[in-house]
Amino acid sequence: MAEKERLLKKYEAQARPLPIDRGEPALDFFSPFGPMIAKTRAPERLLQRINDHADGLVSPGKGIEFLLPDRLIGEGGEGSLSSYVAGIIRRYLAALENNPEVTVDFEVFWVISQYAGTPSPVHFHSADISGVLYLKVPDVEAEEETRTYISGRNAGYINFLIGGKQRFSKSLISFKPKVGEFYIFPGWLLHGAEPFRGEGERRSMSFNAAIGGGN
Ligand SMILES: [Fe+2]
Repeated sequence: MAEKERLLKKYEAQARPLPIDRGEPALDFFSPFGPMIAKTRAPERLLQRINDHADGLVSPGKGIEFLLPDRLIGEGGEGSLSSYVAGIIRRYLAALENNPEVTVDFEVFWVISQYAGTPSPVHFHSADISGVLYLKVPDVEAEEETRTYISGRNAGYINFLIGGKQRFSKSLISFKPKVGEFYIFPGWLLHGAEPFRGEGERRSMSFNAAIGGGN
């Protein structure tokens, strides 16, 4: 592909209809603009490795945040946390920009442990690409899960936001955290987690990565 065409191509959305309305006659919906969020399922062995490390640092009922040490991030060669996450980032970049000549430099990996009632206010990251992997989720009763907060979202869910309230434009998406689920998103994308009510710990790992070499 010519360089100029490739450069333009990465700004062009795919014209794929979303499965929103299956009535007849066909009414196709497109959501062509906006940030891309990818979701995958992380391998159990990595969850185990991070949780084993975190178990030695968290104390029940007390929230804590801590950085993951380089040793834990890099151990395991091809099966290391950094190799795994870099692989997922490369797939994300390949799908969006079709540019194999990128470099992925991790700035930091960290873990957040939270208990009931703790909010994670809306924020963005100082990185090109970020992600969140759920390591533990609390037991939340169905009744409590439907409880909503000021934003109108479900307790304990993670929300991604863009663009404020604009008519005929979606600006918010929510996901219920599940163990092993791993979200990758642009670091500039606003997101926050609602406080949850219920027993247990919500534990997640996040990372910041810089992307270089591509245009
Ligand atoms: Fe975050």
